[in-house]
Amino acid sequence: MRKNIVAGNWKMNLTLSEAQALVTEITSLVAAEAAGSTVEVVVCPPFPLLSAVGQQLPQGGMLHLGAQNCHQKESGAYTGEVSARLLASVGCEYVILGHSERRQYFREDDEQLSQKLKAALAAGLKPIFCVGESLETREADDTFDYIGRQLKDGLFHLSNEEFAQVVVAYEPIWAIGTGKTATSQQAQEVHAFIREQIARAYSAEAALNTTILYGGSANAQNARELFGQTDVDGGLIGGASLKARDFTEIIKSF
Ligand code: PGA
Repeated sequence: MRKNIVAGNWKMNLTLSEAQALVTEITSLVAAEAAGSTVEVVVCPPFPLLSAVGQQLPQGGMLHLGAQNCHQKESGAYTGEVSARLLASVGCEYVILGHSERRQYFREDDEQLSQKLKAALAAGLKPIFCVGESLETREADDTFDYIGRQLKDGLFHLSNEEFAQVVVAYEPIWAIGTGKTATSQQAQEVHAFIREQIARAYSAEAALNTTILYGGSANAQNARELFGQTDVDGGLIGGASLKARDFTEIIKSF
């Protein structure tokens, strides 16, 4: 059965000392939750902080380490880039791929994302693959077609075994960092659609077993209602993951 996951996407925020202070606080706040909790918590710091943050996370606990991106090649002359293998070697278990900020600012397309997915899986990382529509697409009533295409062109080329490692995140672009959350009904509608597409591309069982996260201005106030939806299995949290109390409240929302 699928897992509930709360992942914190720190984006390009926090220095080493700030990150260490945040992790210390999160660790102590979730300590009480950890026993018996089925929620997996993932923190995704910027590259230079991964190793230090990873070492700070209690072994075998509910906190796991993730990266925000990786390069598609295993190694080589790609100045400034970081491979999936390198991420795995510093303790990463997850990697966010296809975030709308990567697609928009760094022109990552389906072809490149397909290669990144393969590279991540080959290195033993679990990809958190993001999809989501712009406001323009939503207003043009094209949301379902658009997301259907993102899934088909970016993700559904994976084999059954590979797909079983993937977490999907639905992040409507108009809700990211804007304070404008999708209503729980809007989120549920798209999550159910994504699950249906997975069932068609793979199997009903694969669809049931896939964790689908919601992202976009999720916070301590709205998480309970969002996570209460049948097909919402957790969240990919940006802004609110930088505040220990807010992030912990979100984790406790299940
Ligand atoms: P937000 O970001 O929670 O700040 O809207 C979410 C994300 O981009 O993953």
